[in-house]
Amino acid sequence: PGLLASMKKDPQVAQKVSGIESSKRLAAYTAVDHHIKPEHRVIGIGSGSTVPYVVERIVQQGQEANKGRVFIPTGFQSRQLILNAKLSVGDVDEYPSIDVTIDGADEVDSSLNCIKGGGACHLREKVIAEAAQTFIVVADYRKNSQSLCTNYPPGVPIEVVPFAYGKVLTAVQKSIGSPKATLRMAIKKAGPVVTDNGHFVIDAPFEPERMQDPSAVLRQIKLLTGVVEVGLFCNMAKAAYFGNEDGTVTIRH
Ligand code: 5RP
Repeated sequence: PGLLASMKKDPQVAQKVSGIESSKRLAAYTAVDHHIKPEHRVIGIGSGSTVPYVVERIVQQGQEANKGRVFIPTGFQSRQLILNAKLSVGDVDEYPSIDVTIDGADEVDSSLNCIKGGGACHLREKVIAEAAQTFIVVADYRKNSQSLCTNYPPGVPIEVVPFAYGKVLTAVQKSIGSPKATLRMAIKKAGPVVTDNGHFVIDAPFEPERMQDPSAVLRQIKLLTGVVEVGLFCNMAKAAYFGNEDGTVTIRH
């Protein structure tokens, strides 16, 4: 918040920041209006800075609409969002069949394959997306790409067991073909980022050409012992909503 406040003092930056926030809100509101129907009882809530607008719109549907509904979080942040909005929180083991999950993304390609995990939540996000009948992505216009690894420089997040991170990192750099892969460090490099599951994250950038077949890259990385989950969501999203700067929404099916 401190950084955002100081950025907002520069009028040009402030305009840009508020433009991006409006784009996120627009995408989230439109997706909720299209996909969260009165009959939906179990709803998955993703992570990141776009998802609060999803919850905001759900709350706007009113207490009556949300009576008897249960919301399944994808991590600590989304659990807090649900609780703060005074909505009912549930677990995926209790509700293994979710009607709709709405989540953000770091990059989405023209076939709706996504890079996710910028917030290190991709393991739980994938579980909650897979458990859903319908998985919907919401994002601002910057995430809308033709091909993955063109607009998201950190690349593909890989959640790893801490014990195995050195071995996995070397394999990702040397055998999988991401020589610039790094272990994700916490702010001020105080130590590695630790996920809600107690694991580390490796960020692996790839040449966009390699991402012509993201499922193949996903399969290769998942075979490495010590990898828990990969932030490549292939053939999962039913639709993606991108809020644009001009107040329109691009919807991809
Ligand atoms: C967290 C995620 C987020 O959904 C992704 O990083 C997008 O976040 P934002 O809405 O802040 O752009 O995958 O692990």
